[in-house]
Amino acid sequence: MKAIILCGGKGTRLKPLTYTTAKQLLPIANKPILFYVLDQVKEAGISEVGIIISPDTGKLIKEAVGDGSRWNFQVTYILQAEPLGLAHAVKTAKGYLMDSPFLMFLGDNLIGGGITDFVKEFNSSPCDSLMLFKEVPDPRLFGVAELDSCGKVIRLVEKPKEPQSNLAVVGVYLFKPCIHKAIEDIKPSLRGELEITDAIQKLLDCGLEVKSHLLTGWWLDTGKKDDLLEANRVVLDDYTRRNIQGNVDNQSQVIGRVEIGVDSHIQNSIIRGPVVIAPHCQVLNSYIGPFTSIGEGSFIEKSSTYNPNHLVIRTSWLYGIIIL
Ligand code: TTP
Repeated sequence: MKAIILCGGKGTRLKPLTYTTAKQLLPIANKPILFYVLDQVKEAGISEVGIIISPDTGKLIKEAVGDGSRWNFQVTYILQAEPLGLAHAVKTAKGYLMDSPFLMFLGDNLIGGGITDFVKEFNSSPCDSLMLFKEVPDPRLFGVAELDSCGKVIRLVEKPKEPQSNLAVVGVYLFKPCIHKAIEDIKPSLRGELEITDAIQKLLDCGLEVKSHLLTGWWLDTGKKDDLLEANRVVLDDYTRRNIQGNVDNQSQVIGRVEIGVDSHIQNSIIRGPVVIAPHCQVLNSYIGPFTSIGEGSFIEKSSTYNPNHLVIRTSWLYGIIIL
């Protein structure tokens, strides 16, 4: 099985952050979102990975992932000249995918618990597509599925006014190659994109089998600023372990699950976890509260993060502090 990871798109909802970087490279707990995705693809046992890139940010994605040897991947970069939709990205990757079944993972989606069971279920089932769904409180904001009593998808509706279920489509899909024919048969939607939900609906209309897999862990679509802050909170809560590699002076207190990277110096400050401080940072006379990530090389003096949820991101010369 192959995987395609979608890292094209415009990232308009995350401006101004996406003026200087790709949204898939924004750090959550000091690790690019895309790296969490690639870790999970590796965990699921897939090693042939195509990454869809855009002309604007493709170079940055290539620099970050390189030849994929960090994951033992065989990486192929696939340029999508324009962001004409998720199904258009699959169409662009058709020459790479050929007749292989494949995983499609949106490069800005984070999910808790990984995708290993999801991929296993697909490999042992005769279905043509397996979709991942998450129960959400307000399904009107998402693509929503109607299922039969056996968990087969009957219908997909994009942002329904009156949802027939609370099952939202998560940005991770498994397909047999018949999806390519379905994509050929769809037209752009009103927003001018080739929609993957329309292609899946086409599979259903042709009598092909689309099954559902319920995600029990968390799901974060990091497309908007608030989602990004929520992702930072959830990931810090889930992943942070106490690991102090930097230097903490006698006037400082480090409480709970705190990571401090090498060559970081904490002086006369209180750090209350969960907190991740990258290497080469300096924190002086400050209070760093729970759910804070501090990016590599940051300098913080006489500051306090009393509200939960802070991300200190260093993108080249710019330090940005986002406060919820
Ligand atoms: P979206 O968040 O739907 O789109 P976007 O990245 O253009 O963001 P915005 O709506 O704020 O402008 O994209 C989900 C993921 O899929 C994201 O990682 C980008 C990727 N993508 C592509 O690779 N090609 C595409 O044509 C589109 C629309 C998205």
